[in-house]
Amino acid sequence: MEIKVVAGDIVQIEADAVVVNLLEGEEINGATAAMDKALDGAIGSLVSEGEIKGKFGEVGIIHTLGKLPVRLVAVAGLGKRQDFNLDKVRAVAGEACRILRKLNCHRIATVLHGVGIGAIEPENSAQAIVEGSLLGLYEFIKYKRPEYEDVKQILLVDREEGKLPNVERGSHNGRIMAEAIILARDMVNEPANHMTPTLMAEIAKEVADKHGLGVKVFDSGEMESMGMGALLGVAKGSSQAPKLITLSYKGDEGHNSSIGFIGKGVTFDSGGISIKPSEGMGEMKDDMAGGAVVMAALSAIAQLKPKVNVAAIVPATENLPSGSALKPGDIVKAMNGKTIEVISTDAEGRLILADALSYAVRQGLSPLVDVATLTGACRIALGTLYSGVFGNKQEQIDSVLQAADIAGERLWQMPMPEEYKEQNKSQIADVKNTGERYGGAITAALFLSEFVSNTPWVHIDIAGTASSNKESGYTVKGATGAGTRTLIELALLLAK
Ligand code: BES
Ligand code: MN
Ligand code: ZN
Repeated sequence: MEIKVVAGDIVQIEADAVVVNLLEGEEINGATAAMDKALDGAIGSLVSEGEIKGKFGEVGIIHTLGKLPVRLVAVAGLGKRQDFNLDKVRAVAGEACRILRKLNCHRIATVLHGVGIGAIEPENSAQAIVEGSLLGLYEFIKYKRPEYEDVKQILLVDREEGKLPNVERGSHNGRIMAEAIILARDMVNEPANHMTPTLMAEIAKEVADKHGLGVKVFDSGEMESMGMGALLGVAKGSSQAPKLITLSYKGDEGHNSSIGFIGKGVTFDSGGISIKPSEGMGEMKDDMAGGAVVMAALSAIAQLKPKVNVAAIVPATENLPSGSALKPGDIVKAMNGKTIEVISTDAEGRLILADALSYAVRQGLSPLVDVATLTGACRIALGTLYSGVFGNKQEQIDSVLQAADIAGERLWQMPMPEEYKEQNKSQIADVKNTGERYGGAITAALFLSEFVSNTPWVHIDIAGTASSNKESGYTVKGATGAGTRTLIELALLLAK
């Protein structure tokens, strides 16, 4: 899709549709008032008739019937002024684009939401509109016939020529962000018969080639010699070869230190011998979302070029039952030397992360941030809007929360009480891989903390947020890419 920034009068723009906006409970003004005038007061009368209210998420459609160069005008509701923020701009753009696509619009022009009311800088509005539009229009239609023609062009319109360079920059960065999230979504939506550890590794190499990142993929032999018994234990049940994928971005040549992003890459989680119920099992193709997110974040970081070094590590494997699979009661040894009693082979994420985190510590990466669809318990606790955040140092947790805030992603910090560590104690090994049912997201995080030594570490559990069964704003059904923008913003933040 093409995105064009143009200076001019919104009333004279040539396109299929123009998007203007309205705050709930406020008078029509700015570009919307100019449109209203050109339409002989059509917007005003729909507002006074109560058909258009400016409610957040509402998109009122007006047919211009030849009064304007465009066929349709969409009046997007921004909601109440006091609730308005940048993330609302993303959502409004996504919603409006989706509705206009259904109405057969291929070229969509839009004003910069929030700029007219002085709430948002043009650059930020442009970035949010580009992100929201591309993400809201996203579909995974590789394996089916599309229902409608796609939008070909988005025009970002501003009156003042002088603002254009800022708008251009916002639009450029917005596209980088959106394309990263789309990469993550595409990887997660891809069924597990295609998205194998081997394909994840190939995609990592393509991303590295395209954006100039370092890449190294370790096979099972190399993992064996590094002592990654936990990851290899999980992989044993599958005939797909496991991969430990690493990507590296060097933006700060003067320093050796590097941030480490670690993403769970279970390309299919059947539960293994501790097999899951068959209903809904297909959803477990999403279990590599953390891996996709860290790879996608690096692809954007490589283009945004912050002055910081970042490495991504993705332990990738399937979790399947078979004659050679890991069994409940087995003991495996992780790279840091700790032995783990496997109570449930379905708690495989923490096993592969044990080795990936040990490896990250050995590489001297710091701080560490892992992203994982780790526990159903996190989804139970926080639902599908909030990812859970855990960690061993408040300073780094705060940085992640701050990055999420800038990114417009919702994170909620969870406690890490020492007392629950008891639950991970084993009679016959250093630790065991499951605790009690209650507080399962916390005991999983406490298990991971056994493998990070003293390195500052933050864990993001995206089990609830990685995919959506609802369409709303810039979220569509299927993979969300949740976590990608937070990691990108964190790299930008830590570069300052
Ligand atoms: N991949 C799952 C977690 C998950 C559940 C992600 C639902 C997304 C939606 C993970 O490997 C798992 O199976 N966790 C178990 C842990 C239990 C065995 C201690 C769980 O949450 O039930
Ligand atoms: Mn599992
Ligand atoms: Zn899993």
